[in-house]
Amino acid sequence: MVSPLPDTSTRKANTPVYQLDRLGFQYGEDKPALIDISFRIEPGERVALMGANGCGKSTLLKILGGLQFATSGRIEAFGKCLEPAALEKEQDSYAFRRRVGFIFQNSDAQLFSSSVEEEIAFGPLHMGLSKNEVKQRIADIAQFTQIEHLLQRAPFQLSGGEKKRVSLASVLVCNPDVLLMDEPSAALDPRAQTWLINLLRQLSSTGKTIVIATHDLDTVAEVAQRALIFRENHTLAADIPAYSLKDEIPLLIDVNLIHEHVHYHGSTAHSHPHTHDKEHQHMHE
Ligand SMILES: Nc1ncnc2c1ncn2[C@@H]1O[C@H](COP(=O)(O)OP(=O)(O)OP(=O)(O)O)[C@@H](O)[C@H]1O
Ligand SMILES: [Mg+2]
Repeated sequence: MVSPLPDTSTRKANTPVYQLDRLGFQYGEDKPALIDISFRIEPGERVALMGANGCGKSTLLKILGGLQFATSGRIEAFGKCLEPAALEKEQDSYAFRRRVGFIFQNSDAQLFSSSVEEEIAFGPLHMGLSKNEVKQRIADIAQFTQIEHLLQRAPFQLSGGEKKRVSLASVLVCNPDVLLMDEPSAALDPRAQTWLINLLRQLSSTGKTIVIATHDLDTVAEVAQRALIFRENHTLAADIPAYSLKDEIPLLIDVNLIHEHVHYHGSTAHSHPHTHDKEHQHMHE
């Protein structure tokens, strides 16, 4: 199936989407959130940023989205240094934000209009499209994200999963080259998670670059080709193909993405690794 919004970018084949060189970020004087991070992301890659709570995934995603800026080291986006001065002029900031779509973990941070239709129209109207073109885009994207029945509703009255679909629609309607998503599957039930995974694969097949921050190993296995794994001390522990995650149990335990859980059966103890997903509950007697 083909996305209604093909990749229209004109970037050069050899320019990475992102190149980070010893990037660091601190909140205030003494609160490092990212230390010495170096990697490249090529056009069309699907990358997962993985690590335990507080390791710096959301911070890094915001830096990739130009919402925060490195406090040391360097980051280039589309071959240009991504620093405050690069986004200072309105037209540069606008051009960057059209190219890079950001889906927040908390949809309430994303949605501000009084109806879903207005929310989705906001981006295309600012792109200078005619009313008819905007209408057509809204119809296409509403169908693509399965929210046609929600168009007249108020975003703040929707469920978490519905809000997530609307957030996606409001970003995809501008046809960005790069999609940055913070914990995309967090508000979704199993059927919606499967839907999202298929949608991300479809978008990827049209050439979009996708970066997701998550600690959900199942989503990574389904969506990503590559995993960047962060330690709790805010450094990069590994940059590996997503398919090899299953062979990295000691690393995943070390960075607190899974944990060794000891069970007792009578007098015999044995342990298995457990993921830290939201479904996993411990029973203590
Ligand atoms: N606005 C802020 N001011 C000060 N410190 C912050 C701020 N936002 C995040 N931090 C700190 O920066 C570190 C990284 O936070 P970040 O939100 O990037 O982690 P994360 O990997 O996304 O975690 P989670 O899995 O819980 O979403 C944490 O120690 C956090 O407490
Ligand atoms: Mg986070």
